[in-house]
Amino acid sequence: MIPNIEFDTKDLRAKDNRWIHPWEEIARLGEQKRTVITHGEGVYVTDSDGNRLLDGPAGMWCVNIGHGRREIADAIAEQALRLSFFSPWSLSNAPAAELADKLASIAPDGFEHVFFTTGGSTAVDSALRFAMFFNNVLGRPEKKHILSRHDAYHGSTYLAASCSGKAGDKKFMEMENDFIHLLPSPNPFRRPEGMSIEDFCTAKIGDLEAKILELGPARVAAFIAEPILASGGVIVPPEGYQAGCLEVCRRHDVLYISDEVVTGFGRLGHFFASKDVFGIDADIITCAKGLTSGYQPLGATLIHDRVLSRLSGAEVEGAVFSSGFTYSGHPVACAAALKNIEIIERENLLEHAREVGAYFQARLRELNDIPIVGDVRGLGLMACVECTLSNDGEDPSALNARIGDRIDAHCQELGLLVRPMYNMSVMSPPLTITREQIDEMVDILRRGIERAMEDVRREGIWNG
Ligand SMILES: Cc1ncc(COP(=O)(O)O)c(C=O)c1O
Repeated sequence: MIPNIEFDTKDLRAKDNRWIHPWEEIARLGEQKRTVITHGEGVYVTDSDGNRLLDGPAGMWCVNIGHGRREIADAIAEQALRLSFFSPWSLSNAPAAELADKLASIAPDGFEHVFFTTGGSTAVDSALRFAMFFNNVLGRPEKKHILSRHDAYHGSTYLAASCSGKAGDKKFMEMENDFIHLLPSPNPFRRPEGMSIEDFCTAKIGDLEAKILELGPARVAAFIAEPILASGGVIVPPEGYQAGCLEVCRRHDVLYISDEVVTGFGRLGHFFASKDVFGIDADIITCAKGLTSGYQPLGATLIHDRVLSRLSGAEVEGAVFSSGFTYSGHPVACAAALKNIEIIERENLLEHAREVGAYFQARLRELNDIPIVGDVRGLGLMACVECTLSNDGEDPSALNARIGDRIDAHCQELGLLVRPMYNMSVMSPPLTITREQIDEMVDILRRGIERAMEDVRREGIWNG
């Protein structure tokens, strides 16, 4: 039994204001009134005032098997008692070894080896550092430029953040600009007026090749891409885009890093989406989040054997990949991941996600009839509703009505958490969600959007 604790919201909020949260507006430090989540069960969480909320973002793209799983808590407790930690350098531990082997068995063919990290950012950072190491060892130190895209999000360590393409995040932050280049976003909703999807796709693949040629293929190490740009607003590139980009990379001997921190572990109905959903055979895959369903922090960088095999032989002897973390392959986190994968397999959650994912997308598309809804997009169990007050596709960051925050506030009052971003509401519920819970979610979202629409009409921001 979990001891029943009484929570004092006022007291918790005061204490919480000592915590500098991610993306904190420093001038407002101490003024926040964050909701404090205290419990979770299945697809629902409860706040410190006892309000029950449907967890639309699954924490933050991660609680794939749902909250409050006794089995996973037991696996964590058992491992902490058996062996809580040991150095991953010259020694090993059983859960990490088991997990490395398990990942090789569920990853696409050729991904036989994994580098464990502490989360998504460190998985991305490790992938990028590996790409540079790879070229240094191969005797081509000038081949280290990295290509990414506007609207991408790859994390918050220096390299990963520099590869991220959300304009607002760069305003006051130091970034690496010398060898990291951002290509235009492959967002079909923002494509030039009159351009067909097919032409847009060709143009975006062309952007990649043009940049490689401009820099010189001998100077470009890697292209990093989320299969679906998650935090940029669930941007689903046009069909054939990923495959086209891979072909360009192969032609110029550029590594393709597929960042599956969000799309991995079931969100699109497969353990890994790169191959099974988008048909691409990436060189490096990064994952985190759903790997443990958020029960423990853990990330992983999977490196294809076609890449690793190029670093074998006498001439590369002594080339050490000098990178790693105290908590690489943390036994408790790996035990959580093993149990999480076991649950996903035993409960057929991948099949379930494919089935309810299609229903989720279809139900969400019904929201297109609300006048301020500009675009409903997504795939599987990740989706975004983008509102455009004039419906002419303006830049979301230029909107002043903070419609996403308004929708979020109304939805929370009605019992649903969504993730607001400017004028977008992003959702990625646990894979365990049922059709009935999807109905509940979409119904609340509709009411939330309609209430927000009434607000902006009343305030004269919108007169539709
Ligand atoms: C695609 C992608 N990559 C990397 C990261 C960074 O992961 P983390 O926050 O675990 O460091 C995120 C986080 O949202 C992500 O969405």
